[in-house]
Amino acid sequence: MTKINLGVLVSGSGTNLQSIIDSIEADKLDATIRVVISNVPGVRSLERAKKHNIPAVVINHEKYAAREEFDREVVAVLKTHRVDLVIMAGFMRILTSPLLKAFPLKIMNIHPALLPSFQGLHVQEKALNYGVKFSGCTVHFVDEGVDTGPIIIQAVVPVYDDDTAQMLQQRILKEEHRIYPQAIQLYAEGRLEVTGRKVHIKDTPPMKTSSLHNPPLEKF
Ligand code: GAR
Repeated sequence: MTKINLGVLVSGSGTNLQSIIDSIEADKLDATIRVVISNVPGVRSLERAKKHNIPAVVINHEKYAAREEFDREVVAVLKTHRVDLVIMAGFMRILTSPLLKAFPLKIMNIHPALLPSFQGLHVQEKALNYGVKFSGCTVHFVDEGVDTGPIIIQAVVPVYDDDTAQMLQQRILKEEHRIYPQAIQLYAEGRLEVTGRKVHIKDTPPMKTSSLHNPPLEKF
């Protein structure tokens, strides 16, 4: 199988970047990371890239007067590295049209909630404060909105009464590291068909569970 070329956009720690690197190195993901781009200097993601000999570039957003100017520079670097698919992995920026138009339906994002619930920032706190019994994470294609694009895959985790935001974040993050490589592999295999908001996945295996309950059902 031919490998797809990824450009990974980061702003921080990069545990999702690491899960993608590990999946590639374990031959589970038919992809090559051509470049990692960070909008923040000195972040852990850059060290992770370096350690695995992946070209890493800092494009400091503070040096750009307008979002569009910054995004044009990102496009230039992605094109130079012949990127097919752009992966936002903890990239804390809203994208503008130069980037969206350069990669239509070729940008993925991961969000630590079950979209369309809890868009934006501080979503674990929002989920806890709302009192939901389940939360999770979502991989989606990126469109003009914030956390609104067509959904590719979601994972669900329970929320417990004594959870802190950090505990919930860690539980969700663990699932992020599983579903993001899976979503990218589905793309690499040409199994994602997008019609409007809907992403149809060709040849999916049957679901292992038909329902989940939190707290567990007792008599019913
Ligand atoms: C992840 O939880 C990701 O879902 C979230 O930032 C974290 C980055 O962690 N992204 C967003 O909230 C985007 N709106 P990482 O740098 O360790 O991959």
